Amino acid sequence: MGKLTGKVAIVTASSDGIGLSIAERLAEDGAKVMISSRKQQNVDKAVKTLKGRGLNVSGIVCHVAKKEHRQKMIEQTVSEFGGIDLLVSNAAVNPIFGPILNSTEDAWDKIFEVNVKATFFLIKEVVPYMEKRGGGSIVIVSSNGGYSPSELMGVYSTSKTALFGLTKALVPQLARMNIRVNCIAPGLIKTRFSEAIWKNEASDEFKKSIPLKRFGEPDECAGIVSFLLSKDASYVTGETIVVSGGTSSRL
Ligand SMILES: NC(=O)c1ccc[n+]([C@@H]2O[C@H](COP(=O)([O-])OP(=O)(O)OC[C@H]3O[C@@H](n4cnc5c(N)ncnc54)[C@H](OP(=O)(O)O)[C@@H]3O)[C@@H](O)[C@H]2O)c1
Repeated sequence: MGKLTGKVAIVTASSDGIGLSIAERLAEDGAKVMISSRKQQNVDKAVKTLKGRGLNVSGIVCHVAKKEHRQKMIEQTVSEFGGIDLLVSNAAVNPIFGPILNSTEDAWDKIFEVNVKATFFLIKEVVPYMEKRGGGSIVIVSSNGGYSPSELMGVYSTSKTALFGLTKALVPQLARMNIRVNCIAPGLIKTRFSEAIWKNEASDEFKKSIPLKRFGEPDECAGIVSFLLSKDASYVTGETIVVSGGTSSRL
């Protein structure tokens, strides 16, 4: 029996990268997992791959900033799997790259809408279903950039700092409902999102600055998320685990 056997999980942005790896691990650990992202073909591919490995998953399109998409995802999860116990809020965008003083109001709106506001509202919408089950557990995927802002990703980094605050802000009210909320802060993990950095020739220099001297793999985030969601972390709430090969992580 896996440590998440009998649990139902929603993982956002889970058709690729860190989210897909988390979805796979939660299902391997026994959870029934609802996979989601913006594009139907990406969702279908991820569901097919994980079902092909014998895992109990389903999928639905959900752009996290769209309220009606979030509602459909929640309804679909409850109707297929019978309830919701676990949530991983993993979706984020970074549409701009450059000095922070060049950033536009549109970019601020988009980044904060997806990375911060949608995270909060999805949690708010899922919580009543967790209450019905007598409790639950939530993990928010932030970034080590929230501690050590990247000079060329200043707005994105600021949105990730906000998620550390959101995690803490949610603790007291959720605790009264027997719901825990924790956060992870990955360093550079090899996914499509970060490929402009790790595929770049200058990446060797970057690696030298990381104590473990390498970039991370998506599955190095997945086990930690499964641990935080599970009973093994039953006395842990409001915490952020940094997954960044030893890179400095203080504000
Ligand atoms: N990779 C890193 O180095 C790194 C470091 C620190 C933190 N993170 C964080 O880790 C999380 C996942 O990043 P990743 O590197 O795994 O990215 P990725 O490999 O590029 O995967 C992105 C996933 O997000 C989905 N997606 C994008 N926008 C979405 C939206 N608005 N709503 C729902 N789904 C959406 C994509 O599918 P569709 O195109 O079908 O929507 C895809 O499944 C993000 O929160 C990111 O900030 C990543």
